[in-house]
Amino acid sequence: MMSRKTNRCATASAALASIVLILGGYTATHAEEAGKPDYAKMSPEALAEHLILESGSFDLDQPAQEGGTARDRMIQDNLQKLCSKVRNKPNAEQAGQIIAAARASIQYPEGEIPLGDWKKGGDLAWGGFGYRLAHNPDDHSTRDPSGNCYNCHALSPQRTGGDLGPSLRGYGIIRGNTEATRRFVYEMIYNPHAYFPCTHMPRMGAKGLLSQEAIADIMAYLLHPESPVNQ
Ligand code: HEC
Repeated sequence: MMSRKTNRCATASAALASIVLILGGYTATHAEEAGKPDYAKMSPEALAEHLILESGSFDLDQPAQEGGTARDRMIQDNLQKLCSKVRNKPNAEQAGQIIAAARASIQYPEGEIPLGDWKKGGDLAWGGFGYRLAHNPDDHSTRDPSGNCYNCHALSPQRTGGDLGPSLRGYGIIRGNTEATRRFVYEMIYNPHAYFPCTHMPRMGAKGLLSQEAIADIMAYLLHPESPVNQ
């Protein structure tokens, strides 16, 4: 038979245990009971990886417009792996390799690099349509993917753009609509790692996100004297 003293002691530890549970032990115990990892004990990187790839919170088997599935998009290519590893600060040798690979990826139109239609280019630069997954995926058979430039760049005075990248307002006035500028802008849109290794700017041409025609239209939006960018 239990003595009074031991009994009191047992009651006290049970009370203490419930306080510990209330104070934060509950999730861990619950997670551990269910055989799941304890989020509180995971590094931010491991947690992010777990939530994306293992927890089942995204439908990673959903087909993606470019072919393959959402899961395939989570797999880093060599450039992303290297840039993640060096936290986007490649040393001179790595930067040289990235620049060389980016240059080699660029396909040019025949002849001079053309400017397209700046009005169409404006719609593309200010559009976020294309390659989106989730419950209502974009349908490229009814509408072409756009460029998403506005998310990172200020473009024209009429609307507010993002500031992750430099402002491109007045770009044509400042840089001049020359063959050299056109080549630079084309290459920047096609694969910006040719100039900024491990940049945040996407590889719109190299990854097949924008066609050469769409790039020409967006270039016209940046460089044409009548475009709102240059007013
Ligand atoms: C995710 C953000 C992001 C998106 C989207 C983006 N850019 Fe950029 N862009 C940048 C950053 C950042 C830089 C500066 C390079 C650096 O420091 O990495 C840049 C630089 C540039 C430059 C060179 C600016 C200069 O000083 O000459 C041009 C031109 C440019 N972007 C055009 C575009 C166009 C056109 C689009 C849309 C097709 C676009 N960008 C989409 C982030 C972005």
